[in-house]
Amino acid sequence: MSALRDHLVTRIRATGPLTVADYMADCLLHPVHGYYATRDPLGAAGDFTTAPEISQMFGEMLGLCLAQTWMDQGRPAPFALAELGPGRGTLMADILRATRAVPGFAEAVEVHLVEASPVLRARQAETLAGHAPVWHDTVEGLPDGPLFLVANEFLDALPIRQHVRDGGGWRERLVTVEGAALAFALSPPLPVPELDHHDVADGTLVERCPALPGIVASVAARIASHGGAALFLDYGHWRSRGDTLQALRGHAPEDPLANPGAADLTAHIDFEAVARAAVPACASGMTAQGVLLERLGITARAQALARTLTDAALDAHVAAHRRLTHPAEMGDLFKAMALVPPGAALPPGFDP
Ligand SMILES: C[S@@+](CC[C@H](N)C(=O)[O-])C[C@H]1O[C@@H](n2cnc3c(N)ncnc32)[C@H](O)[C@@H]1O
Repeated sequence: MSALRDHLVTRIRATGPLTVADYMADCLLHPVHGYYATRDPLGAAGDFTTAPEISQMFGEMLGLCLAQTWMDQGRPAPFALAELGPGRGTLMADILRATRAVPGFAEAVEVHLVEASPVLRARQAETLAGHAPVWHDTVEGLPDGPLFLVANEFLDALPIRQHVRDGGGWRERLVTVEGAALAFALSPPLPVPELDHHDVADGTLVERCPALPGIVASVAARIASHGGAALFLDYGHWRSRGDTLQALRGHAPEDPLANPGAADLTAHIDFEAVARAAVPACASGMTAQGVLLERLGITARAQALARTLTDAALDAHVAAHRRLTHPAEMGDLFKAMALVPPGAALPPGFDP
């Protein structure tokens, strides 16, 4: 039995079943035994691979998108270039490299990172040495001033609650103990006013992410007051339905209760919830990742890079381009949404 499972079983026996959000929070962020507290989970030797780890082209496209938006807003200086959940720092490094040639950008930029994991903070410090990043525990720590922000696969790591429609109310999916094992159970029916806009049939499971509105609203308020833009990229849908809680270990899915603290836990993003929380900033429509990257010119960039490659490196590069953009791979499941100040032009590539 793992130390975290012991802790969870003791906690549930003492104080009762946990919400799925409490379970996720302990699994991912417990300060001693949590998943992100204890490892760098990315890459072939880890549990999952993200878009910036697949190809430098992802960060290059987003960097040029942000730089164009910065120019469209009159090149504010200085400005904060911020990332939420920067992983190994690869996306930020690619953005900074791709924007080096944009006049005035490198001179005005101040790099800010919101990161919970001490292991990944150390990794980011190595990747971004020379850029003097400033770390924050939460978005509240970001400076007041023009803010150009990116978050890739950050919102999907935030704990979710799961509710099942039952008559006029909702039953909440909980994590309890059966024998010595963790198991799912359902609460008695309860009202959940936050879900009143979901008109769904009995038995439908609806997820909500309690931390998401506050995080998006905090970013949106800064952008509306001081200028800038935020790009959120994640897997999800508009008004997600059904159970999307997923555990990944060694690149394979597994039961989310099987290995607490040793598997990555995520859930799909409800982009409607992002758009609702974005006021007073303006949210774009939801754009598929493949469409966004194509509009930003990834194919021309892929062809230019391909001319410098041969053999296995060329094959890997072609596969990476396909993986990021093809609808059957990440192109359709992953979506992007941008926030801008009221009245400002959307960043290039985004649907209105
Ligand atoms: C799935 S990884 C994505 C990493 C990176 N954005 C990428 O695309 O490679 C999630 C990142 O968010 C961080 N993270 C997760 N929950 C967090 C929280 N509540 N506060 C701050 N960072 C968090 C993790 O430590 C990690 O850096």
